[in-house]
Amino acid sequence: MTDFVLGIETSCDDTAIALVDRDGNVAGAKTVAQFDIHAEFGGVYPELASRAHLEAILPTVDSVLGATGVLLADIKAIGVTRGPGLIGSLLVGLSTVQALSFAWGKPAIGINHLRGHLRSVDLEEKRLTYPALVLLVSGGHTLLAYSKDKWSFELLGTTRDDSVGESYDKVARMLGLGMPGGPAVDICAKQGNPAIRFPKPMIKEGYEFSFSGLKSSVARHLENNPDFDVNDVSASFVASCLAVLSTKVTRAIKEYKPASFAVVGGVAASPQVRQAMQDIATKEGVCLCLPPLKWATDNAAMIALATWDYLDQDIQTGLEPKPNLRLGDA
Ligand code: KG4
Ligand code: ZN
Repeated sequence: MTDFVLGIETSCDDTAIALVDRDGNVAGAKTVAQFDIHAEFGGVYPELASRAHLEAILPTVDSVLGATGVLLADIKAIGVTRGPGLIGSLLVGLSTVQALSFAWGKPAIGINHLRGHLRSVDLEEKRLTYPALVLLVSGGHTLLAYSKDKWSFELLGTTRDDSVGESYDKVARMLGLGMPGGPAVDICAKQGNPAIRFPKPMIKEGYEFSFSGLKSSVARHLENNPDFDVNDVSASFVASCLAVLSTKVTRAIKEYKPASFAVVGGVAASPQVRQAMQDIATKEGVCLCLPPLKWATDNAAMIALATWDYLDQDIQTGLEPKPNLRLGDA
């Protein structure tokens, strides 16, 4: 008999449920996205996000259990994101898990969403080896960390303002590309000429990031050039982002000499980011670990796989929301 963890993720605007075994095989997973609900606001509207989670969560649990035929007896524990994230969204997942845990008599563990992203690289196949350099690029975070083993992290740098994903989303909004912004900018960028010279913020300095100046520079360019070409602006913006990410990652690989290098978070779904990171890995002779495409953006399979680590290490966490959890926290 195979044991499964039921993973539940509601930290932002995706209601995600998954059943994952100890080796990272995904028996079933479903994500209900909320793009239609938030599109008119140009970003996630927290109150509406919580309400949509509330409506979707139990039917999605039922749907995943029904589709896989996994029995309650085969579920070893329930893992649910406790932070970081929007407090109202987190509360829906956490309170639902509290009820399910009580009703089913299963242990429930609150999971750090950022550790979930890191574990996404081991879904379906084990990829990560230590020591590892980790580049986390999502809507909420941009950071570089050095990790000697599963539980130790040295934060090398983070962003002083916007995250990479956030700046993709804001540029998409300026260009009228709608939500989700990142993939839209990425597609336009592939067809454009990166000829506009946007700044590459903090490229010469260590491992800290800053993206708000780049975003403002794109806004100024659009104001001054009303007949701008969407594809060229996208391509030039992406080129600046990639130059910054690539330079800092290369610097960190040379300094820390990791065995592997993981790129995780929603922006790791970008084919251009993946290619740029592969080029660096090849040049520097480091093993690149990327999550399978479908597990790069927020999902519950990564939360379930992280839950297995918490179980193995007997790490017990509560079900209180922790909106500001950091990578090194359990
Ligand atoms: O990890 P994620 O799903 O949510 C957070 O934890 O924040 O990341 C979402 C971010 C959004 O900013 C989205 O625009 C970006 O990831 N993203 C992409 C792509 N797919 C998602 N950015 C660039 N290219 C993509 N293909
Ligand atoms: Zn995320």
